[in-house]
Amino acid sequence: SPKPITVLGSFMADLVVRADRMPAWGETLRGNAFAVGPGGKGSNQAIAAARQGAPVNLISRLGRDAFGDMARNIYQKEGMSTALISEDPDRPTGTASIVVDDARGENAIIIVAGACDGISEADVESATDVIAGSALFISQLELPLAVCQRGMALAKEHGVPVLLNPAPGGELPREIFQSIDYLTPNESEASALVGKPVDTMQEIEAAAATLRSWGVPNVLITLGEKGVYVSSDDFEGVIPAVNAGAVVETTGAGDAFNGGLATALAEGRSLAEAARFGNAVAGISVTRAGAALSMPDRTEVDQLMAMGGN
Ligand code: RIB
Ligand code: NA
Repeated sequence: SPKPITVLGSFMADLVVRADRMPAWGETLRGNAFAVGPGGKGSNQAIAAARQGAPVNLISRLGRDAFGDMARNIYQKEGMSTALISEDPDRPTGTASIVVDDARGENAIIIVAGACDGISEADVESATDVIAGSALFISQLELPLAVCQRGMALAKEHGVPVLLNPAPGGELPREIFQSIDYLTPNESEASALVGKPVDTMQEIEAAAATLRSWGVPNVLITLGEKGVYVSSDDFEGVIPAVNAGAVVETTGAGDAFNGGLATALAEGRSLAEAARFGNAVAGISVTRAGAALSMPDRTEVDQLMAMGGN
């Protein structure tokens, strides 16, 4: 059987309000709809990959509460192991309060990490054997940075390729880049990493070049509806987004991309092919409400790609 993908990352319960606009401070606004569903970047990426058929291990931490049960339930439904998911006795499960613009599907998010902040380097170290036996190790920046760094170092030590989705954004210590094989910021995250504006195509190319000069061989800057800019020894250029229908909600689109990219890389596809596959997964996810629950299954993705992904 193929080697698994190991994801070290967050679960958050997404509390989603759809509204015509954001309220002002002190204002009460009527929204159009409310939904609660599974989210968190690590968990979303793990579920996206699992739905593409990849064997997935998720290292995470939940609270002993109803939102934690929501996570445990979906992992069971998806056939994912919970062996590496610890429970925090004190902290509540992480939450993401999300406002979605009802017309455009764009969002604004406030996360409260809760139990995610209780995960420790020891939790990651106890998963060393699993990490060492993986095809790919993935993390994001919703867990404490030291814990993510420990996971990446363990993967590196055992020759396991590391994919870091540096989201949500911020600066990172320079030494971290040497242990990253695939880095997938969006434009604003790339800007935070290099400390320069990343808006024009020229700035995107320059940011990718900077990140590569810091030691990352494969840089993929996601460009939303434009697709993804890929920079590596083998391929340099934009892989266009895949249009699978009208946009309903973009929450988790980046996670869909990363989960798809990871699956295809673990299957041994080229970077450009893997990016195209990630774009197809993301393209379908934005046509549906929710984050984890909007992830397509493999049949849908293969069908869309066979159609040429219009
Ligand atoms: O990337 C989308 C995710 O970010 C949401 O599901 C929310 O939980 C936040 O963590
Ligand atoms: Na979605």
